[in-house]
Amino acid sequence: MNGNTEQSSHVINEIRTRITEKGKISFSEFMEVALYLPGYGYYCSDEKQPYREDYYTSPSVSPVFGACIAIQLRQMWMLLDRPKEIAVVEIGSGNGVLSRDITNAAGKLDIEFADSLKYFSTDIRDEVPTQITGCVISNELLDAFPVARFKILDGEIHEVFVALDDNENIVEITERSSNSLINEYLNSLETPLADGQKGEFNTGIDNWMARVSDILKEGFIITIDYGSYKDDLYSKSNFKGSLQTYYKHVYGLSPYQKIGQQDLTAKVDFSRVIESGAKNGIFNIGLIDQAEFLQNTGIVQMQNHLRNISLNINEKQENLHSIDMLCRPENLGGFKVLIQSKQQTELSLEKLWPSIDELESFAKYTPLKNNDHIKILSNKYSNSYIEIDDLFEGFTETSNQ
Ligand SMILES: C[S@@+](CC[C@H](N)C(=O)[O-])C[C@H]1O[C@@H](n2cnc3c(N)ncnc32)[C@H](O)[C@@H]1O
Repeated sequence: MNGNTEQSSHVINEIRTRITEKGKISFSEFMEVALYLPGYGYYCSDEKQPYREDYYTSPSVSPVFGACIAIQLRQMWMLLDRPKEIAVVEIGSGNGVLSRDITNAAGKLDIEFADSLKYFSTDIRDEVPTQITGCVISNELLDAFPVARFKILDGEIHEVFVALDDNENIVEITERSSNSLINEYLNSLETPLADGQKGEFNTGIDNWMARVSDILKEGFIITIDYGSYKDDLYSKSNFKGSLQTYYKHVYGLSPYQKIGQQDLTAKVDFSRVIESGAKNGIFNIGLIDQAEFLQNTGIVQMQNHLRNISLNINEKQENLHSIDMLCRPENLGGFKVLIQSKQQTELSLEKLWPSIDELESFAKYTPLKNNDHIKILSNKYSNSYIEIDDLFEGFTETSNQ
C-alpha cells in the first residue's frame, strides 16, 4: 500500500470487502465507490476539495461562461412570463463558482430578473428543492456518473467486472453480459458494434432524468458536458471507449491507480439523456456545441467589448484567451449543451436566443476574471496525456499499491 493516503486505503478496503462478499463487482460499482464513498471517495472526501487541482472546467476558466448562462436564464424567465420567482437549481456545483458568476451577472443585466432569481447551488450532499418553476442546470455532472464497461468478444456483449486474483490483487475480468438494460440498448444501435470494440454505459442517466422530472414542475433543463449522440459515441471513432482519468492535469492513468484520489469520467451519451427524458415527461429542445450556445448568448459581443476597453495588457490577454478557450472546438467549445423543457413543448432553440441588439447592450457588463478563476496564460493548466492503455489491461502490477 505504498504511497497511498489514508483516504485511498479506505476506498480500496471498501472495494476489497465488497469483492470478497460478492465474488466480483461491476465496474460501475467500483467507480461509485472510488468517486462517492462517503467521507473518502474522490468527490466525497472530508480531506480536500479536489476541484481545480486535477482538471479545469468552463466555469473555472472565465466568468463570461456564467454571464452567458445568466443571459439564457433571463430569456427563459421571459418565456415563462416573468414569474415573481424563478428557481434555478444547479446540481453538482462543485466549488460554486458558476453560481457566483451567474448571480453576479444577473444583478447587472436586469434588476427585475435578478430580484426574481432564487439560485440553489447544490452538490452531492445537499438537499435539493422539488416542484420548482425555473431551470435545472449542470456542468460536467453526467460525465462523473458511474459507468458500466463492456467489450464485444466473438460477437457477444461482455461486461467488465472487478475481482481479486489468487494473490489478492485487484484485477479486471470480463463475462458475457446478463445485464438486460445494457444488452437491449446496445443491440438496438443502428450500426452493430464491432468485434473487439469497448465502451461504457452510464448507469446514472435514467435515475437522473427521473430526479430532474421531480425537481422541475415547469421550465427548462440545461445540461452541459462532453459527449455526443449514440451513433457517434459507439462508432469506430471511440473504438476503445472513452473512460478517462484525471490526476493533477495528467490524464490517461489506469482507473486502478490512485484509487479515490483521481477523477474518473466518460463521455456522455446524449441520445440516452434525451430518450430517458422523454420517458419522464421531458421534451427535447436541442443539442448544440458549447461554442454555438455561447455565440447565441452574447460571447462575441463580450469579446469585442473586452478588446475595446482600456485594461492592463496582461489582464486583457488573460481574459480574451480564456474566452477563446471556452469557444475553441478542440477545447471547451466542443462540449455539448442540451436544452430540454417540461410543460414548454412548443419551443425551438431559436426562441431561446436574445436579439443581437440585446446582446450588444448586455456586453457593457462583461465580467472580468477574479480569484475564483484559474490563470490560463501561466500555462499551469495545460493538460498532458500519458498513454497507457490497452484499456488498462496489464494493470495488475500497479493494482496493490
Ligand atoms: C466534474 S465535477 C464538476 C463541478 C462543477 N460543476 C464544475 O463545472 O466545475 C462533478 C461534480 O458533480 C458532483 N456530483 C456527482 N454526482 C452527483 C449527484 N448525484 N448529485 C449531486 N452532485 C453530484 C460531484 O460531487 C462534483 O462536484
